[in-house]
Amino acid sequence: MPAIVIVGAQWGDEGKGKITDMLAEGVDVVVRYQGGANAGHTMVVDGTSYIVHMIPSGILYDDKICIIGDDVVVNPKILISEIDKMEARGISTKNLRISCNAHMVMPYHMELDRLEEELKGKHKIGTTGRGIGPTYVDKAGRLGIRVVDLFDKDEFIGRLGHTLKYKNLILREIFKHKGYEVEDIAGEYLEYGKRLAPYVADTSMIISQALREEKFVLLEGAQGTLLDVTHGTYPYVTSSHPISGGACIGAGIGPCKIDRVLGITKAYTTRVGEGPFPTELMDDTGEHLRKKGGEFGTTTGRPRRCGWLDAVLLRYSVRINSMSALAMTKLDVLDELPVIRICTGYQVGDEIIREFTTDIRKLRESTPVYEELPGWQTDTSKITDFRDFPDETKSYIRRVEELIHAPIAIISVGPDRQQTVLFRKFV
Ligand code: IMP
Repeated sequence: MPAIVIVGAQWGDEGKGKITDMLAEGVDVVVRYQGGANAGHTMVVDGTSYIVHMIPSGILYDDKICIIGDDVVVNPKILISEIDKMEARGISTKNLRISCNAHMVMPYHMELDRLEEELKGKHKIGTTGRGIGPTYVDKAGRLGIRVVDLFDKDEFIGRLGHTLKYKNLILREIFKHKGYEVEDIAGEYLEYGKRLAPYVADTSMIISQALREEKFVLLEGAQGTLLDVTHGTYPYVTSSHPISGGACIGAGIGPCKIDRVLGITKAYTTRVGEGPFPTELMDDTGEHLRKKGGEFGTTTGRPRRCGWLDAVLLRYSVRINSMSALAMTKLDVLDELPVIRICTGYQVGDEIIREFTTDIRKLRESTPVYEELPGWQTDTSKITDFRDFPDETKSYIRRVEELIHAPIAIISVGPDRQQTVLFRKFV
């Protein structure tokens, strides 16, 4: 049985939660491999919606092992509150496992995220304010505190004291913040440790074992390719690796174990936070996409920036992730539009670029070159078979496939599990 990676093909919020949740029905293990509570997945089942930030989407099935992997940064307070909410709604979390290697978001990370954004002024990233960047900085800087540290009181207090020496210097000297004492944090976190203890495990071992037993493993990325710290629109990125390559690190398995990569794209493009976005629409069409698509952040409630589908960006995403196929979500949001545009190049000065660039100066200066297709102006939200789509819809999907050099296997026409068209075989 295969290991499949699900990855966001744009700037996040592509609807990965719905697709993961849908595919999860046939899988044994779901692994969230990076990011933290900056993500927000909405799953809708029979009209009831569930929003999770930390827990993998497979949690709605009570026979799936759901793993928070090695490269996730865990905010224990948010995680415990999600566990409690799920249990209160009758959804069991007994199969949830948290990697002992995962680093933890500490109160000073949240504070530093906010203060650094303030200091950056017009250069701010527009982060979600969840302490993600500062936590990964400490991980790379070898000042981080991992989930495993919660289970040795002396080790935890020792590490925290050592880290606070550095953090307090920054907080007090640069930001005039009062800083933190070990006692402000230790008691609270050691209590979290007691709550989380039953869930903590060597998750790489569980995943390897599952693969050995030919079980089906789904590796779920948060955010999207263009937010990858190396391959995204740096510096307007998150601090982890949402791309498929990140799945190996976050699951603790090697690349040969991964069989397929499914990219998720919206039928248009959105972005939250700052940074270049060549196909952004500042007009009524952009407003229409935002309203009809409900384009407001799941984590922060911020309105998302909206624009046309960018095939240049998607082809890059297909390459960086080695995508085997894509799922296209929110196609129904385009239903009323008389004309649909696809970006096929960027005009930068006298030059037309056909391949994506992570040079953000070029991206900022670029004017999109569009191809125009007729809209279908038909309600597609109840269609479940590709053959029932209007011809214009079929043409749009097929043209996108041509431009991005990858098949679109799944099409989603609404938030519910049933509102899905399986177009091509993927697994
Ligand atoms: P951070 O991950 O909170 O540090 O934010 C860095 C950038 O990534 C900002 O532009 C955020 O808006 C964006 N971002 C982080 N998480 C998500 C997400 O789940 N969806 C969309 N954008 C995100």
